Amino acid sequence: MNQTIEKGKTLLVDGPASVSVISGKVEVFGFVLGNMRKVIVREGNRLPFVVKETATFDSSVGEDANIEEVNGNTIPTSWVKAYEELSKPEVKPFTVMVIGPVDSGKTSFCTFLINKLLIKRQKVAILDGDLGQSDVGPPCTVSYTFVTKPIIDLFDLKARNVFFVGSTSPSRVINKVIEGLALLKQEILSNNPDYVIINTDGWVKGEDAVNYKVQLIEKFNPDIIFFIQQKDELASLLNATEKFRKVMVHSPSVIKQRSKEKRRRLRELAYIKYLRNAKVRSIPLSWVKIEDELIGLGWNRGNIRQAKKIHELLGMIPLHLAEMEDRICIVIGKRRWINPENIKKVEEITGKKVVVVHKGEEEGLLMALYDSERKFLGMGSLRELDYRRKIMKLYTPVSEKISMVTLGRIKLDENLKETQIFMEENHLDFTMFENLF
Ligand SMILES: Nc1ncnc2c1ncn2[C@@H]1O[C@H](COP(=O)(O)OP(=O)(O)O)[C@@H](O)[C@H]1O
Ligand SMILES: [Mg+2]
Repeated sequence: MNQTIEKGKTLLVDGPASVSVISGKVEVFGFVLGNMRKVIVREGNRLPFVVKETATFDSSVGEDANIEEVNGNTIPTSWVKAYEELSKPEVKPFTVMVIGPVDSGKTSFCTFLINKLLIKRQKVAILDGDLGQSDVGPPCTVSYTFVTKPIIDLFDLKARNVFFVGSTSPSRVINKVIEGLALLKQEILSNNPDYVIINTDGWVKGEDAVNYKVQLIEKFNPDIIFFIQQKDELASLLNATEKFRKVMVHSPSVIKQRSKEKRRRLRELAYIKYLRNAKVRSIPLSWVKIEDELIGLGWNRGNIRQAKKIHELLGMIPLHLAEMEDRICIVIGKRRWINPENIKKVEEITGKKVVVVHKGEEEGLLMALYDSERKFLGMGSLRELDYRRKIMKLYTPVSEKISMVTLGRIKLDENLKETQIFMEENHLDFTMFENLF
């Protein structure tokens, strides 16, 4: 479909669609599009094609896509002013943090800043701290890369390194998110950037969220913080961060809010991207270092005498037993059963909660794979743990030597949709939080 749009208007395109500019001058998030360049708008994404000089577009749309012409430029003028604040940095590297609620335009604002800085030939790193709606790395991770060319969609970037957190929401894993971001920031700094742009997740409401964001801000000590909001969603956070340099920017009014389901669907598309061309691999458990806080695979049996005692109390020898700091994880056969009375006895004697997992329940757990230098190799999904033969089967596109695996708290079904994990009954409040993202 061809259409001509006058200067001063914006073409809003909701994907899946592809759009080419045949003639005229058009910008997307500060990126000037060359003529005949084809832009893919992903499902669930909306891109504003801002017409600077009357332009003709050729577009084709997929199911549920939409194209709409609106008056004016949908990039708020406060975004342009924000860039001006950055253009004369007092220090190098200059650290920028972007904070705002879910669907406020954080990613788009980062894209806009990056494109503007690239025009000035600055060396820009993006550090992506959003676990649920990650742009640079896979879902459940924090990641970074250097952006060397103007970009329309940060999702098209390839991460330089990734730190797997294993959850879609930060609420229960705050320390891990901060640890990962700090590690990646160190890597960025060793590459001598002019700007480091840190994007964050949209968890900003409530005391815990505010505390978390304050912790992030204090840890990374940004030279400037951009707060994106429509009304006063960030009021308490603003009060709590008085000593930092802050600039308010507007959340564009044309943003279409994504439902919880839509956000899940977007993650599903990302899992598909990161597990494309995957194959099943078998790895002996003894060949890899395992980080796992669910089943306790990385934990050795510890005190053998204690393990024996637990077996006796249980009246059986489980496939796997891990005594962790706060609980004991026991894996038993698919159709096996343990008398609850016996479990109670173990809990009384050890003072720890016993979690029973049936073999097979591990299937689908999301995992990250690393090399011996802890460089991220890619994602995988656990197929099977063979406790007797001590072999792990996983589904992954990674073909390199794997030295370390980290298991997450997210489980994918065969269509790469997120499903319930075992033990969720013990983490009801956690599940409720997950639903927010
Ligand atoms: N200025 C804008 N004009 C039109 N659409 C926009 C604009 N800013 C953001 N969007 C679209 O709104 C949606 C949400 O924005 P996004 O940047 O992903 O928000 P966040 O990162 O805060 O969740 C995206 O599809 C994005 O492309
Ligand atoms: Mg985002």
